[in-house]
Amino acid sequence: MLLFLPLLLLLLLPPLPTTLSLNQEGLYLRHFKLSLDDPDSALSSWNYADSTPCNWLGVTCDDASSSSPVVRSLDLPSANLAGPFPTVLCRLPNLTHLSLYNNSINSTLPPSLSTCQTLEDLDLAQNLLTGALPATLPDLPNLKYLDLSGNNFSGAIPDSFGRFQKLEVLSLVYNLIENTIPPFLGNISTLKMLNLSYNPFHPGRIPAELGNLTNLEVLWLTECNLVGEIPDSLGRLKNLKDLDLAINGLTGRIPPSLSELTSVVQIELYNNSLTGELPPGMSKLTRLRLLDASMNQLSGQIPDELCRLPLESLNLYENNLEGSVPASIANSPNLYEVRLFRNKLSGELPQNLGKNSPLKWFDVSSNQFTGTIPASLCEKGQMEEILMLHNEFSGEIPARLGECQSLARVRLGHNRLSGEVPVGFWGLPRVYLMELAENELSGPIAKSIARATNLSLLILAKNKFSGPIPEEIGWVENLMEFSGGDNKFSGPLPESIVRLGQLGTLDLHSNEVSGELPVGIQSWTKLNELNLASNQLSGKIPDGIGNLSVLNYLDLSGNRFSGKIPFGLQNMKLNVFNLSYNQLSGELPPLFAKEIYRNSFLGNPGLCGDLDGLCDSRAEVKKYAYTLRVNEKSDIYSFGVVILELVTGRLPVDPEFGEKDLVKWVCTTLDQKGVDNVVDPKLESCYKEEVCKVLNIGLLCTSPLPINRPSMRRVVKLLQEVGTEKHPQAAKKEGKLTPYYYEDTSDHGSVA
Ligand SMILES: *[C@@H]1O[C@H](CO)[C@@H](O)[C@H](O)[C@H]1NC(C)=O
Ligand SMILES: *[C@@H]1O[C@H](CO)[C@@H](O)[C@H](O)[C@H]1NC(C)=O
Ligand SMILES: *[C@@H]1O[C@H](CO)[C@@H](O)[C@H](O)[C@H]1NC(C)=O
Ligand SMILES: *[C@@H]1O[C@H](CO)[C@@H](O)[C@H](O)[C@H]1NC(C)=O
Ligand SMILES: *[C@@H]1O[C@H](CO)[C@@H](O)[C@H](O)[C@H]1NC(C)=O
Ligand SMILES: *[C@@H]1O[C@H](CO)[C@@H](O)[C@H](O)[C@H]1NC(C)=O
Ligand SMILES: *[C@@H]1O[C@H](CO)[C@@H](O)[C@H](O)[C@H]1NC(C)=O
Ligand SMILES: *[C@@H]1O[C@H](CO)[C@@H](O)[C@H](O)[C@H]1NC(C)=O
Ligand SMILES: *[C@@H]1O[C@H](CO)[C@@H](O)[C@H](O)[C@H]1NC(C)=O
Ligand SMILES: *[C@@H]1O[C@H](CO)[C@@H](O)[C@H](O)[C@H]1NC(C)=O
Ligand SMILES: *[C@@H]1O[C@H](CO)[C@@H](O)[C@H](O)[C@H]1NC(C)=O
Repeated sequence: MLLFLPLLLLLLLPPLPTTLSLNQEGLYLRHFKLSLDDPDSALSSWNYADSTPCNWLGVTCDDASSSSPVVRSLDLPSANLAGPFPTVLCRLPNLTHLSLYNNSINSTLPPSLSTCQTLEDLDLAQNLLTGALPATLPDLPNLKYLDLSGNNFSGAIPDSFGRFQKLEVLSLVYNLIENTIPPFLGNISTLKMLNLSYNPFHPGRIPAELGNLTNLEVLWLTECNLVGEIPDSLGRLKNLKDLDLAINGLTGRIPPSLSELTSVVQIELYNNSLTGELPPGMSKLTRLRLLDASMNQLSGQIPDELCRLPLESLNLYENNLEGSVPASIANSPNLYEVRLFRNKLSGELPQNLGKNSPLKWFDVSSNQFTGTIPASLCEKGQMEEILMLHNEFSGEIPARLGECQSLARVRLGHNRLSGEVPVGFWGLPRVYLMELAENELSGPIAKSIARATNLSLLILAKNKFSGPIPEEIGWVENLMEFSGGDNKFSGPLPESIVRLGQLGTLDLHSNEVSGELPVGIQSWTKLNELNLASNQLSGKIPDGIGNLSVLNYLDLSGNRFSGKIPFGLQNMKLNVFNLSYNQLSGELPPLFAKEIYRNSFLGNPGLCGDLDGLCDSRAEVKKYAYTLRVNEKSDIYSFGVVILELVTGRLPVDPEFGEKDLVKWVCTTLDQKGVDNVVDPKLESCYKEEVCKVLNIGLLCTSPLPINRPSMRRVVKLLQEVGTEKHPQAAKKEGKLTPYYYEDTSDHGSVA
């Protein structure tokens, strides 16, 4: 018996007491930890053998060194903790700060949260909380900061929220809160920040009562489905720094009272339906730095007093503003962003624009500006974007713009610019896009282009550029598009041009380029479009052209090419294929000895001598396309054209299309005028849905890039789905759309 005594004692003792010394608060926190999933072991430092939790990650105590410290704060952001809201935390009697920001708390928020009586800050933003906002939250008498953004709270904002006593920050951004923004929020007189953006509220007005929140510094109501006018009362918010009412349906004018927001730094009103003029009295907004009232229907002029403010960013694009840009804007010492595109602005830009301002983004496109481009635009060396297209700017591009070392995007197209482009401008080292199309610019591309190592898009079409394409173009290794059609470029293409391995489009049609195509064009492995029509090119069409596997636009018409047509061309999937009006001779490769290719070989008298025979086959053609055997992915395109013919009731070429073909006509008309202007009015309207689907299939088949075109098998499947989805019988009976694909479901289906 005595022998067993020690053993008995051992058994009577508790198992090694890991939590024996941990104080009560530590035990609550242990409970908290156990209630959550912690897959990343974020709480591994929580050692239950400690006497207090004060050294645990995220825990802060009052007077941690004393014998009885109390937990004040629990801060565990981005810890990947998952599980229901841990109400046990409310047992910590002195907890004032709780942040579980960016975790996976995935329950509702229980009304018992109100037992956290000492809480001052509660941050549960970016979790997976659902259900109603607890009406008991205002029962927390000391709550100052409440951030529940980025959850799935739904329902209305509870009436009780008018009763918060000390609340300074209320953020409910990105939830599923409905109903409207309640007027009683105007009762929370302590509020400094009210963020309700991005909730699916029902259409409603901005409550005038919000004007009572005179301590407010931030009012964020972006995309809250707001309608009606901006209440005058908002002008009472003398402490407001940041007002964001963007992306709503607000109407009426901007109330003049907004000029009373004397603390305001940022005003965002973009994408509403505001009308009238910018309000008078804006000179009082001496702290205003950022104004964005773009995408409204504002009219009148840009006020001079606005431009006299030390603005940093001015966005007024897509309105109906008229008049000129006040000269005072050029004095703004911090202005880095100006976007005024798509208005009716006119007159000249202040010539010293940029002299005093570190401009970075400048966009005045699609207005009616005249005069010259201000030479000092990039004077401060920050400029990244100059967009001035679609205006009436004239004169030369100032030489000083050739020093804009930071410039990345330039668009000066569709103006009346003339003279030579400054040498430095061709060689800007960071420029990615250089667009100068449709001006009257002349002279050569300077050799300095070799320095434009980031240049990807060089668009010079419709000018009077002349001289040879310089050898240095081959150094512009990132060039993806070179469009220089309708100019007076002459001389041969430089040998170096084949070094442009990124080139997707080379368009130099309607110039005076001569000589032979350079050796080695098969290195253009990404070339999609080659348009050298209407030049004076001669020599053979190199066999290497057949190696350009992604080429789908090839127009060499109107040159002096001679010799045979490379057989390799038969392997290509070309949407546009034109070798007409050259001096080609010899056999037509068999694939091309078909009527549909007739217009690709016009005006080559020496070609195969057999063309007449081809002509003779015209008789069998009237519906040649419909009897075509679809046996190649490239023919999917032709099949798509047939579909478009059927749906539109038009022939592939029609004088009405102008320069376009059927496919382009369908795309533009669809885009500009809608489907009703595309579909054959003779097709019965009760099948509109089906007809639209068939139209889409036609468009899919005629995608510019062959890789995007479906296989025949898929086309057949798509068409069958159209037929069976709604009117399983009707489609067949209707006949018009169906006979062409029901016969065969193989990839080699006959379409007849
Ligand atoms: C959220 O937390 C995850 C880790 O759980 C982290 O990767 C992510 O960057 C955090 N996001 C934010 C916005 O803090
Ligand atoms: C909440 O997260 C926990 C832990 O990952 C999981 O077990 C539980 O199923 C989740 N609950 C809900 C409602 O998604
Ligand atoms: C902690 O809370 C308790 C209970 O409310 C209170 O008696 C105590 O004074 C508080 N301690 C401190 C340090 O605030
Ligand atoms: C939150 O709401 C979104 C949108 O309704 C939904 O896709 C998502 O699954 C919801 N998440 C949770 C955790 O309820
Ligand atoms: C808001 O305050 C007014 C005036 O103090 C009061 O009559 C009203 O009951 C309050 N509303 C709410 C919802 O608290
Ligand atoms: C409220 O919105 C402002 C926008 O100015 C933002 O800076 C702030 O972080 C937001 N506050 C909360 C708590 O979401
Ligand atoms: C709050 O604003 C409304 C409308 O602007 C006003 O009628 C009301 O008297 C104000 N209430 C308080 C308590 O100031
Ligand atoms: C403009 O606002 C509407 C809703 O009012 C929204 O659907 C649209 O996406 C917004 N556009 C932009 C560019 O923000
Ligand atoms: C090149 O242009 C791209 C696109 O604008 C830009 O992101 C990149 O920073 C530029 N690179 C250099 C070196 O300027
Ligand atoms: C070009 O294509 C031909 C025929 O397909 C092939 O024999 C040749 O190797 C290819 N040349 C290059 C450089 O890819
Ligand atoms: C090829 O170009 C000629 C001359 O411009 C034109 O008449 C013919 O229609 C074009 N053919 C095709 C298939 O585009």
